[in-house]
Amino acid sequence: MKVSVLGAAGGIGQALALLLKNNLPDYSTLSLYDIASVTPGVAKDLSHIPNKVKVEGFCGEDPSDAIKDSNIILISAGVARKPGMDRSDLFNINAGIIKSLTEKIAIANPNAFIGIITNPVNTTVPIAAEVLKQKGVYDSRKLFGITTLDVIRAETFVSELKGYNNKDIAVPVIGGHSGITILPLLSQVKDITFTEEEVKNLTFRIQNAGTEVVEAKAGGGSATLSMGYAAYRFTMSLIDALNGKKEVIDYAYVDTSDSDNIPFFARPVLLSVNGIESHLPLGDLSPYESDMLDNMKETLNNDIDKGVSFINSNT
Ligand code: NAI
Repeated sequence: MKVSVLGAAGGIGQALALLLKNNLPDYSTLSLYDIASVTPGVAKDLSHIPNKVKVEGFCGEDPSDAIKDSNIILISAGVARKPGMDRSDLFNINAGIIKSLTEKIAIANPNAFIGIITNPVNTTVPIAAEVLKQKGVYDSRKLFGITTLDVIRAETFVSELKGYNNKDIAVPVIGGHSGITILPLLSQVKDITFTEEEVKNLTFRIQNAGTEVVEAKAGGGSATLSMGYAAYRFTMSLIDALNGKKEVIDYAYVDTSDSDNIPFFARPVLLSVNGIESHLPLGDLSPYESDMLDNMKETLNNDIDKGVSFINSNT
């Protein structure tokens, strides 16, 4: 197994790399790339941890050597939010970064699973899809926007409120990865009931949890450690699927253009060695959740259109 992290010298990249170094299967390779010249040093640092995962580090303008032969390429390259910014404020810089990295992937390793962390995820994933389509190598089963942070936040906040152990709580979170497009399906949490007020408060908190971190870090960036953990957890699902494990189910922001009138949507997917084997049903939504779903559609479609237009006007 080879896993590459692009943006590996950043806050998320380093936390994620540490978790992967400690948890990838024996004899895997962890390949770290960033434009920052410290990256080979980050790899050297991790390589002193005693286990059987090999670590390589690359820096400079070209990620090709770092992504060659990888099974999974995770992208956290880009800029992060500061107080007062929302995720769409990151668009101008991060759109160009995702475009150029995906162009390299299309040439060096178009068969890899690609997991995108870089915000705004609602838009960066469609950008990557358009680039891969233009290069004639798009496989919608292998492109994932990583929304696991919304899932783990939902699990944590519900556990805290109801006095449960996190590990016993599963909360589906669907839609997208910003503001009102983040929709936790609290009505589907097993064995727990919520008052209407609890549902409203929890939904609001899950949707705005990223801003909680941005404000608490007071200009020092956005979520990095919890995101590193979230991306690691999602990566382990991809690894299970690549290793042929059955019934691997996870949530991600994926191409739904074949089955839905919203072309990208975060939803449960069944994973296999080929990527997304099928989209699983969303299940029954409460009237509140159905309204929230209707309300998000315009925002999510606009976010997606923005990515498609960016590629069409920059090629
Ligand atoms: P950071 O600023 O600490 O790290 C970003 C890294 O990307 C830096 O090391 C930088 O040198 C590198 N970079 C910039 N341009 C590059 C390029 N062209 N090629 C390779 N590397 C490049 O930022 P942080 O906190 O790690 O966040 C990274 C991204 O993840 C941001 O866009 C942030 O908004 C997003 N994010 C996504 C979350 C999600 O749930 N999907 C949650 C939190 C953050």
